[in-house]
Amino acid sequence: MEGTEEFVVTPWEVKGKVDYDKLIERFGTQRITENLKERIKRDVGELHTLLRREVFFSHRDLDLVLNDFESGKGFYLYTGRGPSKDMHIGHLIPFIFTKWLQEKFGANLYIEVTDDEKFLTKQEVSLEETRKWARENILDIIAVGFDPDRTFIFQDTEYIRNIYPLALKIAKKLNFSEVRATFGFDPSTNIGSIFYPALQIAPTMFERRRCLIPAGIDQDPYWRLQRDIAESLGYFKVAAIHSKFFPPLTGIEGKMSSSQPETAIYLNDDPKTVRMKIMKYAFSGGQPTVELHRKLGGNPEVDVSFIWLYYFFEDDDRRIKEIEEDYRSGRLLTGELKEMLVEKLNDFLESHRARREEAKKEIGTFMRTGKLASEMWGKTLD
Ligand code: TYM
Repeated sequence: MEGTEEFVVTPWEVKGKVDYDKLIERFGTQRITENLKERIKRDVGELHTLLRREVFFSHRDLDLVLNDFESGKGFYLYTGRGPSKDMHIGHLIPFIFTKWLQEKFGANLYIEVTDDEKFLTKQEVSLEETRKWARENILDIIAVGFDPDRTFIFQDTEYIRNIYPLALKIAKKLNFSEVRATFGFDPSTNIGSIFYPALQIAPTMFERRRCLIPAGIDQDPYWRLQRDIAESLGYFKVAAIHSKFFPPLTGIEGKMSSSQPETAIYLNDDPKTVRMKIMKYAFSGGQPTVELHRKLGGNPEVDVSFIWLYYFFEDDDRRIKEIEEDYRSGRLLTGELKEMLVEKLNDFLESHRARREEAKKEIGTFMRTGKLASEMWGKTLD
């Protein structure tokens, strides 16, 4: 960590209070300006809450993607997931936004599920486990509601035969010192992890059109490598739209983490557990006593319940403003604010779980038999 910039964002770790303006500078990306938002609104008629509230806040070449859309060339979408035992709310955010993009822009979508990556980077887990988790996570992903004819979901260990020739061409262009510098590898890093970036880059070259990746900004290092080599392989530099992290329940530093249950709401947490976690762990910007709170008011900027409502769970702009003002003035108490979040979360999770049950019938379509899926199984990428 250098000087005053005391936060870390890598594909494996988010530490400290992330300063997103500094991150834009550090990563060399662009802020999503009001102009760009206006343009999206003109193109598709509305703006998703996650864009209006600047959860998706940064990009690479989004303007070029919009040019391609407006001129009729079109573009495609790509995102992914490194499977773990249980998915949490934060993991679902990029998928929810991706679904909106697919619906509004009518784009093909590729979803890579990296059972290989998780096996390679987590010392203690077996390949059998990551492959099993992949299946479970895919049900949560399907539950988001993608277009079955325009979406292909694949697991690396299954689809590898079709992508291997392309991955090889990518791997030959990436030299070790560049990859090491990008990901901070050291001599003890296993060689599977060193090759893996070629596999995460490959889907950016699935079509001869521009690819747009909606994802958390932690994944950007892969896209930087891609942009250095894509044109030499005859493809477009990848475009990306980056999100901030849903903060852990316990406070605004870092990100929600699968390995610390008190920091996250999992998609399979039952209503009682959700209530208990929010009441017990959600960091509050309120005052220690009701009297003080009424007098001094709360601070929504550090209040995790407020931030979660603002980022996603209260999509009515007027209502969220009211909540903010009431909380600041002390009219709204921490307990009441938490209650609002508990209700929103439980509603969301209940319908998510119902859709997840339905997804069990659709898994074959997304992975094998749907229009895009069967096209993809019928070709070798190179
Ligand atoms: P993974 O499984 O760590 O994360 C999946 C997606 O969720 C985002 N994310 C979050 N977003 C908001 N708040 C959080 N607290 C939070 N935690 C995670 C991640 O940024 C990511 O978008 N290597 C990848 C798998 C992958 C991939 C891709 C991801 C392969 N190809 C293309 C994005 C795009 C991984 O392990 O993601």
